[in-house]
Amino acid sequence: MTELRVVDVAEDQLDSVWQVRIRSFGPGGDRDEWKKNALTFMDGRFLGVVDGDELVAAARIWPFEQWWGGRRVPMGGVAGVVVAPEYRGRGVGSLMMRAVLQRCVDKGYPLTALYPATTVLYRHLGYEFAGHRYKFAFQAADLRTLSDGKGTAVRKAGRGDADLLLELAGKEHQARRSSGPLIWPRTEVESWLEDEDNFAYVADDGFVVYNWSDGDLAVDELISGSEQTARALWATVGSGASIAKTVQAYCPPFDPIHLLAEHEADGDTRINRWMLRLVDAPAAIATRGFPDGVVLEADLRIDDPELPANTGDWHLSVAGGSGRLTPADPTSEALRVGPRGLAALYAGTPLAALRAAGLVTGGAADADSVLNAVFGGPTPYMLDYF
Ligand SMILES: CC(C)(COP(=O)(O)OP(=O)(O)OC[C@H]1O[C@@H](n2cnc3c(N)ncnc32)[C@H](O)[C@@H]1OP(=O)(O)O)[C@@H](O)C(=O)NCCC(=O)NCCS
Repeated sequence: MTELRVVDVAEDQLDSVWQVRIRSFGPGGDRDEWKKNALTFMDGRFLGVVDGDELVAAARIWPFEQWWGGRRVPMGGVAGVVVAPEYRGRGVGSLMMRAVLQRCVDKGYPLTALYPATTVLYRHLGYEFAGHRYKFAFQAADLRTLSDGKGTAVRKAGRGDADLLLELAGKEHQARRSSGPLIWPRTEVESWLEDEDNFAYVADDGFVVYNWSDGDLAVDELISGSEQTARALWATVGSGASIAKTVQAYCPPFDPIHLLAEHEADGDTRINRWMLRLVDAPAAIATRGFPDGVVLEADLRIDDPELPANTGDWHLSVAGGSGRLTPADPTSEALRVGPRGLAALYAGTPLAALRAAGLVTGGAADADSVLNAVFGGPTPYMLDYF
């Protein structure tokens, strides 16, 4: 083994990355499609580790935005983290992930998130669980009868509707103060809409995108700004009830469909957890939304061994739905957090849970309930895996 180096993956290394991926995730997928997509990460968002000339690890960063408290926060979504089997267990994954974190700093993402296959590697670097991805199963027949077909008109949507869909989703996430859902680059939305295996329908204040999945229908996203639209769009999917008995749906646990469908979702709800990390703590606080009417003045001591710019004594002010984190003098009343505690706090984990897990210590005696109110809100969720 010569000296291991972190590099930006080049086009002629993509075949090597593909080989490491097969060894890591198993066979499957379309190599040409994957390569075409991989090329879009070549602007500094595809990192690898080489041993001499041999590529032995890779990871890439999606240029997402993520809703937090109803506002958009740029977020680097880390995906495809792979290390060749013969190089595992000797710090290669950690070396690469440190470079990925630094690249998120360089690219100006206040946040980074990922779906962990193992938590250990990511926790060492300051990521912590922040939200879920839920897949519920409804009876198609229940959905079919939600509308009598005489109400809201829906029309077929296509590639040219990408901006409209992004706008409709944005309106709803702002209104609902959503935390967690991703905003994908428009080119990705366009490619889903032109894929003949996806079916998209749009109404005045909502849309649905769904497809077939192992004999069931599967809703990737359904946005509705009114009861009528919710009924019309779910019923459009449910109209497939003669063939599909079940409709799988990616949606949050508080989605209106849980209140509309006659039968509750199947007990076998599928849940994936995702992890979050604050890359730039002041920017992450300044860009997200907070609940209106909640006011907080609190001192915070952050110790972040990986990203020292976050380390220090800070003052957190929240008022009028916005927050600010500014450098401050040390105080004995400061709430003490590391990067994992900070990520979980940002995502609304109750202070009692953070204290019980040892992720938070100190703080003013009466501040926990206000911190819960400030960072709480609708449960963070994502609809998509990446
Ligand atoms: C997961 C993976 C990227 C780790 O790479 P690696 O080079 O072995 O990681 P490191 O040697 O830097 O290990 C970092 C820490 O994670 C731990 N770790 C690594 N793999 C682990 C696993 N499968 N289970 C539990 N802990 C693991 C190590 O023990 C180490 O912790 P320690 O310092 O406390 O001992 C690699 O095993 C891999 O490619 N796996 C297959 C694909 C995959 O699962 N990718 C992750 C997708 S999110």
